[in-house]
Amino acid sequence: MKNSTLTRHNVIIAIGGIFLGLSISTGIAFAHGTEMHDKAMMADPQMKKLHAMMPMFSLASAELESALEKGDKETAKAHADRILAAVPDLKKSKPHKNFKQQKKFVEHAVQFDATVASVVESLKKDDLSGAKTAYKKAEKICAACHARFRD
Ligand code: HEC
Repeated sequence: MKNSTLTRHNVIIAIGGIFLGLSISTGIAFAHGTEMHDKAMMADPQMKKLHAMMPMFSLASAELESALEKGDKETAKAHADRILAAVPDLKKSKPHKNFKQQKKFVEHAVQFDATVASVVESLKKDDLSGAKTAYKKAEKICAACHARFRD
């Protein structure tokens, strides 16, 4: 009686071990990839956040650019401020491609923050051409970050 209980326990432990082993190895296989599957990406709240915020970046930067072209400093500043307000979230978010290079990702976000802030600084000084130059730099950082972290 005692023996058979022990055996049953051992079988249960062995099966549990196999499941644990399997889930650990699939987890590791995932982490080694440079890209995440869509489902896994959407399950990660920080990746979801990034995906959700990028359309706003796109719209706000298009409006910012067109306001700069028209020389409408008030509107330009409003859109630059909208982008700046989202940067803390950008820094906390995560790309799904090359997600292991999180440090580099944050570096891009920090540079982006600085260039958009300098658009605002130039606008405050009534320096429209300085603002345009700073905006061109910000656009280059959008592109650099996409080149490394977007598929
Ligand atoms: C720090 C990195 C970084 C910066 C800076 C950045 N992006 Fe992105 N962007 C990404 C990543 C990563 C993705 C892909 C993520 C995703 O859609 O899941 C992306 C996706 C996008 C998309 C596609 C959204 C979609 O639905 O697929 C657009 C549009 C976009 N970015 C515009 C911009 C614009 C415009 C700027 C600059 C004003 C910018 N981004 C700055 C990292 C960045």
